[in-house]
Amino acid sequence: MAVLVLVLFSCLALSLPLLSYPKTYTSLTKGSSLSTQDALISSPHPTFKAGFFSVGGNAYCFSIWYTDAYDGTYTTVWMANRDQPVNGKHTKFFLQDSGNLLLTDAGQLAVWKSNTRSNSSLRLELQENGNLVLSTFEGENLWQSFDFPTDTLLPVQLFTRDTILVSSRSKTNHSSGFYKLYFDGDGILRLRYEGPEITSVYWPNTWITIGSAGRTASNSSKIAVLDSSGYFQSSDLFQFNTSDCGVGPQRRMVLDVDGDLRVYSLDKQSQSWQVTWQHSSEPCRIHGICGSNSLCINDPEIGRRCTCLPGYKMKNQTDWTYGCEPDFQLSCNDENASGFLQLLHVEFYGFDLAYLPNISFEACKSECLKYCECKGVQYKFNLDFGYYDCYAKTILFNGYRSLNFPDPMFIRLPKVELATVENPNQDFNLQCASVVIPLDRTYKRKKQNWMRSYLWSTLGVGSFEIICALAYLFKTRKRSNSRMESYLQVATGFRKYSYAELKKASRNFIEEIGRGGGGVVYGGVLSDNRVAAIKYLKEAMQGEAEFLAEISTMGRLNHMNLIEMWGYCAEGKHRLLVYEYMENGTLAKNLYSNKLDWRKRYEIALGTARGLAYLHEECLEWVLHCDVKPHNILLDTNYQPKVADFGLSKLLTRSGINTSSFSRIRGTRGYMAPEWIFNLPITSKVDVYSYGIVLLELITGRNPSGGNINDDSNSVEPRRLVSWAKEKMQEADGRESPTPIMEIVDPAMNGDFDIEGMKILVKVALKCTEEDIDARPAMRQAGTGKGSDLSRQEQE
Ligand SMILES: *[C@@H]1O[C@H](CO)[C@@H](O)[C@H](O)[C@H]1NC(C)=O
Ligand SMILES: *[C@@H]1O[C@H](CO)[C@@H](O)[C@H](O)[C@H]1NC(C)=O
Ligand SMILES: *[C@@H]1O[C@H](CO)[C@@H](O)[C@H](O)[C@H]1NC(C)=O
Ligand SMILES: *[C@@H]1O[C@H](CO)[C@@H](O)[C@H](O)[C@H]1NC(C)=O
Ligand SMILES: *[C@@H]1O[C@H](CO)[C@@H](O)[C@H](O)[C@H]1NC(C)=O
Ligand SMILES: *[C@@H]1O[C@H](CO)[C@@H](O)[C@H](O)[C@H]1NC(C)=O
Ligand SMILES: *[C@@H]1O[C@H](CO)[C@@H](O)[C@H](O)[C@H]1NC(C)=O
Ligand SMILES: *[C@@H]1O[C@H](CO)[C@@H](O)[C@H](O)[C@H]1NC(C)=O
Ligand SMILES: *[C@@H]1O[C@H](CO)[C@@H](O)[C@H](O)[C@H]1NC(C)=O
Repeated sequence: MAVLVLVLFSCLALSLPLLSYPKTYTSLTKGSSLSTQDALISSPHPTFKAGFFSVGGNAYCFSIWYTDAYDGTYTTVWMANRDQPVNGKHTKFFLQDSGNLLLTDAGQLAVWKSNTRSNSSLRLELQENGNLVLSTFEGENLWQSFDFPTDTLLPVQLFTRDTILVSSRSKTNHSSGFYKLYFDGDGILRLRYEGPEITSVYWPNTWITIGSAGRTASNSSKIAVLDSSGYFQSSDLFQFNTSDCGVGPQRRMVLDVDGDLRVYSLDKQSQSWQVTWQHSSEPCRIHGICGSNSLCINDPEIGRRCTCLPGYKMKNQTDWTYGCEPDFQLSCNDENASGFLQLLHVEFYGFDLAYLPNISFEACKSECLKYCECKGVQYKFNLDFGYYDCYAKTILFNGYRSLNFPDPMFIRLPKVELATVENPNQDFNLQCASVVIPLDRTYKRKKQNWMRSYLWSTLGVGSFEIICALAYLFKTRKRSNSRMESYLQVATGFRKYSYAELKKASRNFIEEIGRGGGGVVYGGVLSDNRVAAIKYLKEAMQGEAEFLAEISTMGRLNHMNLIEMWGYCAEGKHRLLVYEYMENGTLAKNLYSNKLDWRKRYEIALGTARGLAYLHEECLEWVLHCDVKPHNILLDTNYQPKVADFGLSKLLTRSGINTSSFSRIRGTRGYMAPEWIFNLPITSKVDVYSYGIVLLELITGRNPSGGNINDDSNSVEPRRLVSWAKEKMQEADGRESPTPIMEIVDPAMNGDFDIEGMKILVKVALKCTEEDIDARPAMRQAGTGKGSDLSRQEQE
C-alpha cells in the first residue's frame, strides 16, 4: 500500500511539476525567499517563470522555463544547481541581506550561491527575454543568469570567452553531459566531446583548416550572439540564419544531449518546437556518441544506431556512452596469434599510433602487429597522391560506417576469435534491415534467409564493384576537399511552406525551369533569399498523411550527390516540393552543349553512382529511383552531379516490389530496364540498368531514345547502343591498339581522355546493362577493389 502511494505520488510529481505553485511574485527583494512548495517568479507577460523545477521524484533544481508547455512538456532554459538537485522539503532560495543569492538544501547545506554583495536595496527580477537579473533600484546589474548559461542560449544572450554551453546528460537527466560549446584560446568557436575517458574536438572538423571552414582566428574578441531575427554571428566569422529567419517566433539555441547544436523555433499553431538550424546533419560525425570499440550507423529512418565491433560487447547495457569492451584476450608476445577482420565502409577517426604513407597492405598489417596496443589499421586510399596510407590505431573511437567511405577498416582480433566471426558486414546489413522493415514474424524469417543468400552472392570474391572501380581512376587527379566539404553540409532545416509563401517565392509560378513526369518545376527565391527549385506536383496522388510520411523520409536523405530537399507544401489539393537550385542545370543540357570534358564526365559517372548507391543501400532506406536519366542528374557549379527527382521512387523492401502494386510502368523510354516490359520483379537493378545506359550516353554522346547508329542523327536505339559498345570492347580486348574504343567515344572530347579509364567506364556500363538481372552489379557492392579484376588491371 505504502509503495502504491509512493508510486502515485512520484508520478504526480513528475507529470505535474508546476501546478502546485499558488503564489507568483514579479520580483524578490532582500530578506525574501522562495520554497519548492509555494512560489515562483514570473516575467511580466509572462513568457518565462523561475522557481523550483522538478527533475525527479523528490528532486528539484532552481530553474527558468517557458511558462507554457510545448510538445506536452515544460522546457527549461537555465538551471542553478543542475548537478546537485535539492530536496522538496525545507529547501529555500534566498536573497540575503548581504546581497547574496543563496540556495540551501533542507535548511542546511548551501548548494549554490551568486557570490554577490551589496548594501543597497536590491531586487531579483525575471525579464521578458528569460534573463534573471539581480539589480539595485538604481538599475545597476550585480548578477544575471545570462552570464551563466547551462545548455541553452536565448536570443540576445551574449556568448563570450567566459561562457560555455554544456549539454545535459540525457533527455531526462539534466545534469552536465559530455558535450561543450566554447571559445577556444585562438578565438574559434568549437564543440568538444569530454567523455569519461577521451576528449576530442568535433566541430569545426579538425582535418580542414580554419579558413576553409569559413572561420578566422584573427579576431580575439570572442563574442557571439543569436539575435531576435534568428541570425547568429560569432567573432570568428561563423554565422548563420535560421530557416525561419525574421523577428517573430520564440527561439532557443541548445547544445543537445546528442552533441548536436540546434536552434529551435516555436510553432505557435502546433505548440511545438521545430528545428530551424543544426550544426550537423550527420549525427555519426559527433564524437563519443557510441563510446569506444563501437560503430555508429546513420539510418535516415530511425536516426543513429550504435553497434559493438565484432568480438566486443557492450559495457553498460543501458548506456552507449560507455561503449564496448573486448570479449577476448589478445596475446601480445605472439604476433602470429592475431589477425585482421575487414569492416567495409568504416572509418575510425583519430588516435593514430602510426601514420605510414604509400605502403603495402602487408607492410601496414605487420606494422600494427609490432605493437601490443595496436587495435587495428585503417588502410585508406589517398585521392590526392594516388597511393594507400596506413593508420595504426591505439583506440577504436568515433567509428562510423557509411557508404561515403570507400575504404575498409581492419580490426585486430585473436585468430581463434576470427574463425568464429561470421561475415561482419553481412551482419550489419541484416541488423539494419530487421530494424526498419516492419513485417510479421513468419514473413520476416523467410525474408532474412532470402537476403542472406542475396548478400552471399553479392559479397562473393572478385565481385564487380562499380564505385570502387571508378574510384580507382581518381588517383590520377588531385581533387579539392569536396568529399570533406560534403560532410560540412549544414542542414538548414526541412520545413513546411505555405502555398502563399511558395506562390510569392516563385512570383506566381512564372519561371518554368523544368518539366517531368511528376510535374512542373519553377524557379523561385525564398524569404531567406535562398534560390530554390519548386516542383508543383500534378494532382495530389496520395492522401495527405501518406504524402507527409513519404516526404519526410525524403527530407531526411542526405548525400552530396543527391539534390537536397528543403521542404514541402501540402495545402488543400496543392502538393509542392522545395529543392535546392542547381545553377548548371541538367546533365542532358550540358552533355549536348559540349561542356563536358573527360574529367567532368568521369566525376559525373562516379558521383551519380554514389548518389544512387546511397538511395539503394545506405542503411536500409531501399529507395529505388526508377527514372535515372540525364535529365534527372543535375550539376552544381563545380560540375558535381546530384541525382534529382525521386518523384517516382517508392520506398521498398529488398525483396523486390510486388509488381501488382506497381501498376503503372515507370521510367523513360530508352533508359528502362527489360524487367518493366517483361513484367518481372522490380529491384534496385532497374536503376543499375538505367545508370548503365546513362554511362554509355556519357561515353558516346549518343542519345539512346531511338534512331540508328548509321544515321547522322545523334540518337540510337538503346539495345543497339549496348551491342555496339560490346562489339568494340571485344575488338579492343584482343589487341594493343585503342582504335576500336576510340570509335565509340564522343567526338566532342577530341580524343582527350585516359584510355584505360575509358575502358573501365565502358566495362562498367556494359555490366550494368546486362539483360540478365543477376549479372548486373549492385550500385555499390561490398569490396575494396583490392583483388578484383579491375584493380588488378589497374595495377599492371
Ligand atoms: C557596506 O557597509 C559596511 C558598513 O556599513 C561597509 O563597511 C562596507 O564597505 C559596505 N560595503 C559596500 C559594498 O558598500
Ligand atoms: C544523472 O547523471 C549523473 C552523471 O552521470 C549521475 O551522477 C546521476 O546519478 C544521474 N541522475 C539520475 C537521476 O539518473
Ligand atoms: C571582431 O568581432 C566583433 C564582433 O563580431 C566585431 O565587432 C569586430 O569588429 C571584429 N574585429 C575585427 C578586427 O574584425
Ligand atoms: C542572413 O540574413 C540576412 C538578412 O536577410 C542577410 O543579410 C545575411 O547575409 C544572411 N546571412 C547568412 C549567413 O545567410
Ligand atoms: C549503466 O549506466 C547507468 C546510467 O549511467 C547506471 O545507472 C548503471 O548503474 C550502469 N550499469 C552498470 C552495470 O554499470
Ligand atoms: C610466426 O610464424 C612464422 C611463419 O609461420 C614463423 O616463422 C615465426 O617464427 C612465427 N613467430 C612467432 C613469434 O611465433
Ligand atoms: C610510392 O611507393 C612506390 C613504391 O615504393 C614508389 O614507386 C612511388 O614513387 C611512391 N609514390 C609516391 C607518390 O611517393
Ligand atoms: C556552369 O557553371 C560555370 C561556373 O559557374 C559557368 O561558367 C558555366 O557557364 C555554367 N554552365 C552552364 C551550362 O550553365
Ligand atoms: C501483391 O499485392 C497484392 C495486392 O496488394 C496481393 O493480393 C498479392 O498477394 C501480393 N503478392 C505477393 C506475391 O505478395
